[in-house]
Formats: sequence, C-alpha cells, structure tokens
Amino acid sequence: MHTQLEELVAKAQESIAACRTPNDILDARAAYLGKKSVLNGLYARLRELAPEERPAFGQLINQARTKIEGLIAAKDKEIKNAVRAQQVQQELDPGMPGWMSPFGSLHPVTIVRKKIEAVFMSMGFEVAQGPEIEDEYHNFDALNTPQDHPSRNLADTFYLQNGKLLRTQTSTVQIRVMEKYKPPIKIISPGRCYRNDKPDPSHSPVFQQVESLWVDKGISMSDLKDTLQNFATAMFGPDVKSRIRPHFFPFTEPSAEMDISCVSCAGEGCRVCKQSGWLEMGGAGMVDPAVLSMVGIDPEIYSGFAFGLGIERIAMLKYNIGDMRILFENDVRMLRQFRGESL
Ligand code: DAH
Repeated sequence: MHTQLEELVAKAQESIAACRTPNDILDARAAYLGKKSVLNGLYARLRELAPEERPAFGQLINQARTKIEGLIAAKDKEIKNAVRAQQVQQELDPGMPGWMSPFGSLHPVTIVRKKIEAVFMSMGFEVAQGPEIEDEYHNFDALNTPQDHPSRNLADTFYLQNGKLLRTQTSTVQIRVMEKYKPPIKIISPGRCYRNDKPDPSHSPVFQQVESLWVDKGISMSDLKDTLQNFATAMFGPDVKSRIRPHFFPFTEPSAEMDISCVSCAGEGCRVCKQSGWLEMGGAGMVDPAVLSMVGIDPEIYSGFAFGLGIERIAMLKYNIGDMRILFENDVRMLRQFRGESL
C-alpha cells in the first residue's frame, strides 16, 4: 500500500502538471481527490491493516492528500493567471481611446448669472449678497412699499413665522448695503427670490434676479441708460439697442422699465417679442429720496439709480429656451447641451 500511495502521488503530479485549462483542473480534482478516487478508496482499506499500523498509514494518506491538494491549488492559480494575462493582452489596445468619464456642466442659469457678474464687475460693480429669508422691513417697508400694496398680499408672498418671509425681490439687498456702507456704493446682487406664482412658461415660484445699485454724488438717469446699454452689448452683442420707458415702483422716482431690442429678430418683430421688436428686461429708476432717507443717506447730497433684472429671462433669451419650466425640470438632456460652455 505504501508503494501504491507513492505511485498515486507521482501520477497525480504528472497529470496535474499536464493540466492546461480550468476544466482539466476540475477533472484532476475529481480523479485524485473525489469520492471515487483511489485515494478515497484507501481510507476504506485501512481496515485491512493491523490496528497498530492504521494510524501511521492514515497519516500517510492524509499527507498524500494534502500534497495533491497543494499541487492542484498551485496549478489552478497558474492557469487562472495565464487566462487573465491572455485576456488583458487581448483587451489591451494602446491605440484605443481611453474611457471618457461622464462630466457635468453648470446649469444655464448659473452660467448666465456668472456672465452677468463678470460684465458688471468689469464696469466697476462689486457683488453683494443678502439673505433669502428676510423681514417685512427690508422686503417692503424700507423700500417705501405702502401697507396696502398688492405685492404684500398673502397670495403673492410666502410668509414665514415671526414677521419673516421669503424675499420677493433682490431689492432688499439695496437696503442692507446702504444700511451698512456710505456712498459711493456701486454693487450688484444676484440671488434667488420667491413668489407664490404657478409655474408657467414665464413664471416660477423660485427665480433669480440681479439687483444693481449705484449711489454717489451726481448719479443721474443717463448713468442708468449707459449702464444698461453697456450691459446689453456685453451680453447680447454690439447690435443690441436698449431703451427705458416710464413706469412705477414704490422705491424709485422716477421709475422706468428697461427694454432691449429683440435678440431673436433684431427688432423686426417676431413671436419672441410678440411683434413689438422689444423685450422687457426689468424695472429701474432713481432711488426714491424717501428710501435714501430711511437708510440715513442724505438725498440732498447723494443720488442713485437702481434696477432689477430677471436672470432666467436672460438665460432663456441667450439660449433660445421658450419655456422657463425647462430650466427647473432637471432633464439631463437639457443640461448636456451646456457641457463645456465657457463662462
Ligand atoms: N424689484 C423689482 C421687481 O422685482 C424690480 C426693480 C424695479 C428693481 C425697479 C429695482 C428698481 O432696483 O429700481 O419687480
């Protein structure tokens, strides 16, 4: 039985060495270690030996088994490594382009907001920030808004607890900046605003405005017109014209509405401008002396202009988006169009 065992190990060694594929390994394992293997049969034959010989021979069988297991495991590893190496060799084509990991883009409203900031900074404006959760004082009172003004209505403004509200306009930042700093003041303030509006092609309950405020000695309506035209040119190109029309806002006197010539039809009249040739950009005016007094700036010495623009509207015009809701639907196909868009 001794020699039988030695021969068995030698034979196993030979056939394991000859294995080439994972299947060969499976066969070898079944043949030499499986239930019907010779080795397994030897355990049954222990009984043929004298009882005192059994432990020693049992140990020999175990040793043989361990040896064969080790050989199979080593060969198995060798074959698997070889298979993997072959696969890598086949996959490895240095001429193939690399994997492109998907990369994101900025949201078009963010792109436009950053462009707007860059344009105004180039004109010497600083960027100021204010809170989105405001109080009635900064959103309405200090902006000279009468108690019965419709914009204060519950149906239009999101009120929170303790006299707080979600700001309905970035004009609040005019007040916060003028409370803190003395003229000359030359700022813009972009940011989110909230109104209780149903979403439709030109409204969203959350939207962004950019407020502009320039207070100094001798600031006049012509500075406003100049700033507006410079902005329109930088944003939409050298052919764009601008104009202001009389309007009313509680916090400006006189007040105006600002238009630019239609960027879609160059002023000819089209669907985008409803055949008028002009596009409304936002409100503007000379800061009301009552507002200046409220924040402790002497209206006899200083004057200023202010205006507010809708950022989504500018983004829609710039990127030819017909419905504001598209900007908020998070459809990745929309976002993909802005990959690589420079600021
Ligand atoms: N806050 C106004 C609005 O949301 C826009 C506006 C009008 C801002 C006139 C101004 C301004 O600074 O002077 O409708």
